[in-house]
Amino acid sequence: MKVIVCSSYEMVSVKAAQIVRSHVREKPDSVFGLATGGTPLRMYDLLAEDHRLNGTSYQKAVSFNLDEYVGLNRSHPNSYHYYMQSHFFSKVDLLPANRFVPDGLASDLQEECEQYEKQIKDEGGIDLQILGLGENGHIGFNEPGTSFKKGTHVTTLTNDTRKANARFFKNQREVPHYAITMGLNTIIQAKKIVLLAAGRKKAKAVKRMITGPVTESFPASILQTHSDVTILIDKEASFENI
Ligand code: F6R
Repeated sequence: MKVIVCSSYEMVSVKAAQIVRSHVREKPDSVFGLATGGTPLRMYDLLAEDHRLNGTSYQKAVSFNLDEYVGLNRSHPNSYHYYMQSHFFSKVDLLPANRFVPDGLASDLQEECEQYEKQIKDEGGIDLQILGLGENGHIGFNEPGTSFKKGTHVTTLTNDTRKANARFFKNQREVPHYAITMGLNTIIQAKKIVLLAAGRKKAKAVKRMITGPVTESFPASILQTHSDVTILIDKEASFENI
């Protein structure tokens, strides 16, 4: 694992955006795995700005989002469809047909998961996967205890995750109980992985991810088994703040 401690959240975002930008410039038909949540927001801003000012193009690229809540309409402001549309898709030239986000309203969720996994394979797998980190060690919505062998699946969100994400909703009761998520086996097959974490609240999870045992009870620890992982953290998320 390559761990880069940046001076600020802004620098975490700048570095992450640089990695994405170089990737798509070198390989225009890159397949990206994308994350939502608070942490990558600034990275998406910077990518949108770079597209506008420098013309970095995503026309041949493909993207797969990590996850989506079950039961939220894609026009619901808290759905990840809506998030991606407002923060990234509407601002760059990634073609609508090449943007994949799991359908949390599919009538057959199991089939949707199998289909999603197949679509990733059909595109040749993920070249660059962007990740955030849950305080409880989740990546995607793979909560503690999830088998490392799982592909895309329906997961039950823990109370910790629903509490952490309640800040985006009116209250915790509105946070869905279920989500579709790429599995740990899906994520670990990405050729390159970049994880972003910022803020003091993430410091314990960062430490455990990097130095703790590789165990299903702490999903992000699986990243220790991958040969090309870059962890971008700000000073507050680094060990000295535990
Ligand atoms: C989002 C996702 C989650 C978040 C994690 C951290 O697509 O898969 O794993 O990355 O919950 O969220 P933030 O960045 O809001 O702290």
